[in-house]
Amino acid sequence: MGVRLAEVTDPVEATALAPPAHKILQDLVSSGAALGWALPPAQGEVRDLLTELVEGVATGESALLVAHDDGTVVGLGYWRRYQRQTHRPHADLERVAVAAGHQGRGIGRALTEGLVASARKAGIEVLTLDARGDNERALALYRTLGFNEYGRLVDFVAVGHLRYDKVFYALDLRRPWPRL
Ligand SMILES: CC(C)(COP(=O)(O)OP(=O)(O)OC[C@H]1O[C@@H](n2cnc3c(N)ncnc32)[C@H](O)[C@@H]1OP(=O)(O)O)[C@@H](O)C(=O)NCCC(=O)NCCS
Repeated sequence: MGVRLAEVTDPVEATALAPPAHKILQDLVSSGAALGWALPPAQGEVRDLLTELVEGVATGESALLVAHDDGTVVGLGYWRRYQRQTHRPHADLERVAVAAGHQGRGIGRALTEGLVASARKAGIEVLTLDARGDNERALALYRTLGFNEYGRLVDFVAVGHLRYDKVFYALDLRRPWPRL
């Protein structure tokens, strides 16, 4: 069967997704992944996040994409529209995460491409993201999909006593698909 991507739109599905999604995020953050958590998130936090994302799907507020490999959840990612009134046409791609044992097989690329496509379909004008400056693998992936760096805060991300750059990327979806 292989890897399959699915958009999560049903709250019951979101609840069922919480334990495997939590496991992926917990394992990645425990081994130092740059996902915006210094400590692994609690399962309740992940469940609430997924529920909120799925509630927003119907109104074009958000999108949540999951990758399954032979029925097992191996990755996820989402975008959310900006809350600020003057930023409403735009959204932020907040987290793309692939389980450690499944990385390097094209799943992260497929998830990110799927999220860009769903943002385009939802009429999002600019899709932004930020990443930790040492996350070269993720940054390289985003650049190949047409994201450009528009800013950088030097030594901004604090993980214990360590400091990393926070890098800001954007993809303007009002322009034609950059790879065409
Ligand atoms: C970043 C992440 C989502 C990429 O997912 P993935 O499934 O491993 O990536 P893919 O196999 O789709 O590879 C995508 C690109 O990543 C880069 N890449 C993949 N494996 C790599 C490796 N071993 N070394 C360097 N770059 C690599 C390449 O640019 C690759 O492009 P290609 O398709 O032209 O080869 C994944 O590594 C991850 O979950 N990391 C931890 C969480 C995280 O940092 N998320 C991003 C937050 S901004």
